[in-house]
Amino acid sequence: MTFTITRHLPEDATAAALRADVLAGLTSTPKSLPPKWFYDAHGSDLFEQITTLPTYYATRAEQDLLVTRAGDIAEATGARTLIELGSGSSTKTRHLLDALPGLHTYIPVDVSEGALRDAGTHLAHERPGLSVQALIADFTNRLTLPATLGPRLIALLGSTIGNLLPPERLAFYACVRALLEPGDALLLGVDLAKDPDVLVAAYDDQTVTGAFNKNVLTVINRELGADFDLDAFEHVALWDADHEWIEMRLRSRTAQTVKIRALDLAVDFAEGEDLRTEISATFRLPSLANELRCAGLDLARWFTTPAQLVGMALATPAPSGTSSTAATGRSTTCVR
Ligand code: SAH
Ligand code: TRP
Repeated sequence: MTFTITRHLPEDATAAALRADVLAGLTSTPKSLPPKWFYDAHGSDLFEQITTLPTYYATRAEQDLLVTRAGDIAEATGARTLIELGSGSSTKTRHLLDALPGLHTYIPVDVSEGALRDAGTHLAHERPGLSVQALIADFTNRLTLPATLGPRLIALLGSTIGNLLPPERLAFYACVRALLEPGDALLLGVDLAKDPDVLVAAYDDQTVTGAFNKNVLTVINRELGADFDLDAFEHVALWDADHEWIEMRLRSRTAQTVKIRALDLAVDFAEGEDLRTEISATFRLPSLANELRCAGLDLARWFTTPAQLVGMALATPAPSGTSSTAATGRSTTCVR
C-alpha cells in the first residue's frame, strides 16, 4: 500500500493568498470572494452533505454517467495515471479506478488537506496495488506533477469547472493543455443548461447549502480575526440568464461594518448588499467544444445522462499548430 501526500503550496502561501483574496474581494464593487476558501475540513464535510440533498441532482447524475461510461473512458484513454483535480472525497472516482485495468498511479489534487487525507487513506487501504500520490495544491495555479507512467488522464469532475469565471476557465484549459502529451486526455464533468427552477432549487437550500456558503465567513473569522456575524447574512442563489449560471451570494440583512483584524480593514455593507461567493455555470455542447478547441483541446467523446442533466467531455490535445486559435485568432473565438 503506498500513499504519499505532498504540499505544493508553501506553509504560509495559504494565509498570504487568503489575505490577498479577501482584501481584493471585499474592497471591490460589487464584493466577491473566490470559492476555494469554502473548503476547510468543515466546508468539505458540508459539501459531502450537499451531494445527498434531494434537490442537488448533479452528483447522482454524474455518478450514473460514470457507472455507464467508465468502460468507454477507459477504452478510449488506456490511462495508467489518473490525476484528479478538486478530488474531494474521491467517491465517484472509484468507478473510474475500477474501470481502468492498467492504472498504476492515482494523483488526487485538492486544496483541502483533510479531504485528501481521508480519501487517500481509504483508497490506499482498499487498493493495495495502486500508488496514491496526493497533492495539496491549487489547480488554478500552474501545477507541477510527479513523473508517472503515461497515458495520463486529467479529470475535473463535479461541475467544478463551472465554478471558475470565464477568464479563469480559459487560463485553466491552457494550464491543462500544457500538461498533456500526445496520448493523454482531459475528462471534464459539466452541468448542462436546463430549467432555471431546477437549478435554483439545487442551490437555494437554506440549511446545508446555506451553512456551506456561510462557512467562508467562518474561515475568514478564524484565519484573519474577522468578526462576521453569520446570522446577519442571508444565503441567496440567483439565476443569471445572460450567463446561464447560478450565483451564490451572501446578502447583508442590515447596514453593518465588519472588521478584519489581520488586514487592519473595516468593510461596510449596506442593507441588502450582496457578496458574491460562487458561480456555478451550466454548459451547452457547441460553446464548450469551441472553448476547448480554442485552448488546443479536441473533443474526442461526449457523454450525457438520458435526461440531459449533466455531461462529460473527453478531450485530447490537438497536435500543436492545428488549433483553431492559430487559424482564427483568440479574441474572436475564445471569449463567450
Ligand atoms: N470532485 C468532487 C468534489 C467537488 S467539490 C465531486 O465531484 O464531488 C470541489 C472540490 O474542489 C473540493 O474538494 C475543493 O476542496 C476543491 N477545490 C476547489 N477549488 C480548488 C482549487 N482552486 N484547487 C484545488 N482544489 C480546489
Ligand atoms: N461544482 C459543483 C456545483 O457548482 C459543486 C459545488 C461547489 C456546489 N460549490 C457548491 C454545489 C455550492 C452547491 C453549492 O454544483
